Parts: sequence; C-alpha cells; structure tokens
Amino acid sequence: MSAFDLTPLLDLLPELLAGRPLVVLTGAGVSAESGLPTFRGPGGMWEGNRPEDLASPEAFARDPETVWRFYAWRLEKVRAARPNEGHLALARMERLLPRMTVVTQNVDGLHAAAGSRNILELHGTLLTARCTGCDRGVPAPEGPVPPLPRCAACGALLRPDVVWFGEALSPVTWKAAADAAEACAVFFVVGTSSVVAPASSLALLAARAGAYVFEINPEETPLAPLAAGVFRAGAAEVLPAIAAELVRRIP
Ligand code: APR
Repeated sequence: MSAFDLTPLLDLLPELLAGRPLVVLTGAGVSAESGLPTFRGPGGMWEGNRPEDLASPEAFARDPETVWRFYAWRLEKVRAARPNEGHLALARMERLLPRMTVVTQNVDGLHAAAGSRNILELHGTLLTARCTGCDRGVPAPEGPVPPLPRCAACGALLRPDVVWFGEALSPVTWKAAADAAEACAVFFVVGTSSVVAPASSLALLAARAGAYVFEINPEETPLAPLAAGVFRAGAAEVLPAIAAELVRRIP
C-alpha cells in the first residue's frame, strides 16, 4: 500500500456531494492496472517505436499494414482487458455526485465498461473504425492484419477511429471538455504524463477558473506545481479511497 494523504481534498467532498461539479481527466495510467501498456516511461508503447511511424496520417498513407498491425495488437489487448478498481471507483463517484464528467485521453472504452456514463473521449476509440472514403463508423475489425480492413459499403480502407498526431480533436468534444474544466470546482488529473496538448491544458483552464486541481500519479509530472494536492500512488488505490470518503459523507 503506497502512502498518500487525502487531507487536502476531504473538505471539498461535501461541496461535490452538494452539486459542485467534478471533472476527472484520465490518461493511460488509469488503465495500467487493467494490464494495458502506457505510452511513455519504462515498457511504454513509445519505447522503441516512434509515434509518427505508427500513429499519424502520414504513417497510415505510407504503410497502412504496419499501422493496422499496431492497432490490431492494441485492440487484442483492449478486448481482453477489464475495468480495474480505479475505473470502477470513478463510476461509483458518478452515481454519488450530481455533476461529474470523465474526460479521457484513453481509447480503450474501459470507463464505459466500468459504468461511467458522462464520458468525453478526446482521442477517439479503438472500438470503432472509420471509413477513409465515406466516413462511416463501423465496429473495429477482429483478428490479425493483413488483410487490410475495408469498408463494406464503398470498399475504401478503414482506419482506426482515433485522433493521430497532427490531427485535430473533434471541436464538439474539445469544447465540451474545456467548458467542463472551466465550470468545475474540483479537477482530478489521473494517470497522465500531461505532455500532450491540448488535453494537458485542461488542468490549467480549470485552475484559472478557480478549481482545485489534484494529481493522482505515482510519478512526478509537469502538472504538479499547479495542484492543490498530489497523491503519489496508483489510480486503483487512490480512487477507491476517495469514493469511500464520499460515501462516508453522504448527507
Ligand atoms: N496509476 C496512475 N498513474 C499511473 C499508473 C497508475 N497505476 N501507472 C502509470 N501511471 C502514470 C505514469 O506515471 C505516467 O505519468 O500514467 C502516465 C502515463 O503517461 P503516458 O504513457 O504518457 O500516457 P498519456 O499521458 O495518457 O498519453 C497521452 O499521448 O501518445 C499519446 O494519444 C496518446 O492519449 C495518449 C497521449
């Protein structure tokens, strides 16, 4: 059990129960305890791989098979993964709190699988594929690649329905996330290295609008100086502890 002290957060919990909004930004670290690799740090997916060779429109145009093999490998892991105690605790919090939004950079669908409902997927989802010809969304392909997946309607190549480096986020999703960050009373940053924009700017938007920012991450990140409290432990430990403190304070 790592040592973390929730004291800086406890006085804010009754406000959240009374309806002040909570926003939770998550990254790959929240799915680490579901057995899914993170991107950066030891054993991360970008160790030994260049993101621009696997997760960019240029890479897909140059070598769609290599890109699809990478995503088929990730999909196989995601389909075998189950929500962990951190995902489940966030879903429990959402049932306890009148206003809560999960903004995730993750594309693994585990927040929805855990029962969270109010989710903004900033970087898309691995669970659907999108046609490069007619733009329709379809369930992501099963099994190994090749063969390259093609649209049943128009025959064009399908691509993973995720936001690649160099691509813009959905303006609708981004605006909803930025609005939520600027309207919240408390903002958790969980399991993200906070180095990829624009997601990494949400905590600053929240803090500037007067929210208390809390970081949940075993490692130090550039975000720490902004935080009212830092819990240097895993999401699957800290989030259930926070959910339990909320339950203790239900009026
Ligand atoms: N609990 C909480 N945090 C954890 C845990 C854990 N059990 N295990 C690891 N972490 C932290 C790491 O310390 C690290 O700070 O999770 C973070 C993961 O950082 P990244 O691998 O950079 O993942 P993320 O921040 O989600 O990446 C952002 O980059 O490659 C793109 O599109 C991709 O959405 C991704 C974006």
